[in-house]
Amino acid sequence: MADGNRAVLFDSPGTMKVETLDFPKLQMPNGRKAPHGVILRIVATNICGSDLHIFRGSFPVPQNLVMGHEMTGEVIEVGPDVEFLKEGDLVSVPFNVACGRCRNCKAQRTDVCETANPDVASAAYGFNLGGFDGGQAEYLFVPYADFQLLRFPDRDQAMEKILDLAVLSDILPTAFHGLMEAGAKPGSTVYIAGAGPVGRCGAAAARLLGASCIIVGDYDQDRLDLVRNNGCETIDLSLDVPLGDQIEAILGEPAVDCAVDYVGSEAHGVGAASNEHRPAGAINSVLDATRAGGATGVVGVYGPDPLAPTQAEREGVFPLDFGKAWIKSPRIAAGMAPIQSYNRELMMAILWDRMPYLGAMLNTRVISLDEAPAAYQAFSDGSASKFIIDPHGMISR
Ligand SMILES: NC(=O)c1ccc[n+]([C@@H]2O[C@H](COP(=O)([O-])OP(=O)(O)OC[C@H]3O[C@@H](n4cnc5c(N)ncnc54)[C@H](O)[C@@H]3O)[C@@H](O)[C@H]2O)c1
Ligand SMILES: [Zn+2]
Ligand SMILES: [Zn+2]
Repeated sequence: MADGNRAVLFDSPGTMKVETLDFPKLQMPNGRKAPHGVILRIVATNICGSDLHIFRGSFPVPQNLVMGHEMTGEVIEVGPDVEFLKEGDLVSVPFNVACGRCRNCKAQRTDVCETANPDVASAAYGFNLGGFDGGQAEYLFVPYADFQLLRFPDRDQAMEKILDLAVLSDILPTAFHGLMEAGAKPGSTVYIAGAGPVGRCGAAAARLLGASCIIVGDYDQDRLDLVRNNGCETIDLSLDVPLGDQIEAILGEPAVDCAVDYVGSEAHGVGAASNEHRPAGAINSVLDATRAGGATGVVGVYGPDPLAPTQAEREGVFPLDFGKAWIKSPRIAAGMAPIQSYNRELMMAILWDRMPYLGAMLNTRVISLDEAPAAYQAFSDGSASKFIIDPHGMISR
């Protein structure tokens, strides 16, 4: 067993640091023993746009919170009540912490587990949601391991595809969930708001689903290039042209069957307002882009945001363009994604080479733990890479 656990910690808005903590125990945040848990040696742990909310100060957390919720690892210690996992297994960790025993978990709604977090029905690693340490670290404790972890069938095969498999812990299933909520199916026309890593996974998942015209909107040309070079249409939102007109110029009609918000409340406005923080900008754009009778998914994060421009938005009340959307009989679904509902099938799609374009769309970049604080800054500044931390140097660069 290792002596300590080097990890990425939140210091203050704009600053992350790497420090050595104690090696994790099979123990819940409230101190209760967790014989149902395992300890993982982390193989890959990604930086996510959700971590940027913490980095920028829009999701306040205590100082020294251990960051990270997108982990892939090797089982190195197994609790006495774990029945199906063994040392040496390579596993993907869904970012939701879920007990497997409550009403919601039994219904596969692991996004809203009722017990893992005593404060609210939703728990995750590396947030202030249940007190579970994050996994941007060398080692991680995972509770309810038999229920939660997705084991890769073959270790060597998994290591060959590890950069693609690493996004099964969050952004690929999350992106897929948004499309499911929006009713996407073969032949659907799709608008994707946001070309960050989650939006790019949405574009890749739309291709996997057999969507027809996949349109991605953002301001960032490097990010848009990654999807345009891989089978998608793009919209430059910094142009002063209404979104419907831009969609019509591509599709021949001004609205799509399915639209998904992969942005959240850090959204900007369109055209002349593209440098302005408009917290409801993306959600209103997907309502606008959806045809009458279509459907909309919202996976971008919304909550009280201390950095928002108005008092109402700082309290989490956003100005929805609902009166304009209502007549179209909109369907809107929102919230965290239940990763376990999709991760096994998406793993099989990766293992059987059904998403050969995923790596190119994501533009993954492998870094060390010590490089993580600088990578947070680069990602926040708009880097077109998806950063994957490799704490033990197990991934060939
Ligand atoms: N629901 C979930 O379970 C879940 C899981 C993972 C991530 N998320 C959320 O998904 C969102 C995206 O994550 P990411 O890693 O891709 O973040 P990111 O910050 O890298 O990307 C967001 C992109 O949206 C663009 N953008 C800003 N305003 C826009 C607008 N009005 N229209 C279109 N694009 C706009 C930005 O230029 C940026 O490229 C975040 O809010 C993140 O927290 C949710
Ligand atoms: Zn994430
Ligand atoms: Zn539960």
